[in-house]
Amino acid sequence: MPESRLQVVVHPTARDAARAVAQFLARNLRATPDLVLGLPTGRTMIPVYDELTDLHRRGRLPLDRVTAFNLDEFDGLAPGDPGSFAAYMHTHFYRLVRMRRGGCRFPPVSGRDPSAYDQDIGRAGGLDLCLLGLGANGHIGFNEPGPALAAHTHRVRLQTATRRANAYLFGGRVSRVPTHAVSMGMATMLQARAVTLIATGAGKAAIVRRTLTGPITTRVPASLIQSHPHAIVFLDKDAASQLNN
Ligand code: GLP
Repeated sequence: MPESRLQVVVHPTARDAARAVAQFLARNLRATPDLVLGLPTGRTMIPVYDELTDLHRRGRLPLDRVTAFNLDEFDGLAPGDPGSFAAYMHTHFYRLVRMRRGGCRFPPVSGRDPSAYDQDIGRAGGLDLCLLGLGANGHIGFNEPGPALAAHTHRVRLQTATRRANAYLFGGRVSRVPTHAVSMGMATMLQARAVTLIATGAGKAAIVRRTLTGPITTRVPASLIQSHPHAIVFLDKDAASQLNN
């Protein structure tokens, strides 16, 4: 099996992996405070946002010049719906830190033109650092596995497994999870100057193995990060348990 060029860092626990991601981001922001970020949601990211909030409170994470573009958002929800990723970001991060006005962006939903998001990202200079979570089916953002992937921001139909994985945001009711979302595309994310992927827990072990050691394929969208020149993968021991070394 060909060796991956990716930098993979394995931490003992999920909390340690989250802390490492937060410290990595903080180091980068202290060096370059006006970074343009791509930010994910998901349960894995909650401890990362906790750590980031803590670093911010201790003056170790400057956010006043950051521009953050979220990777995805559900389509078809009323504005302010508590299940939205905007609500998630507000609850876990944005209401707890100080960022500049206009520094927190979300993909355009409800029939607005998705390409406007790529134009906004382009005007900001493109993503410097794109943080990625990992869907159990290999999605990044909401780029679902399939015969082809979209390059740019697009509307996507969510797979049943993905809706199930996101039911926690809707009181556990899969039927309440929107059927569609708007996601950044693969090119927008992978043109970031650096990407990080975080995955924790035994439930991610199989998809982590396929992502990092399998062929690069649209059937595992996250596998495309193997071709990125500056990618770092943060794992805990459980998520790394199906890797050889
Ligand atoms: C959602 C998000 C993805 C995220 C994934 C991981 O599906 N759209 O951007 O990577 O969740 O979720 P979790 O961390 O809950 O496993």
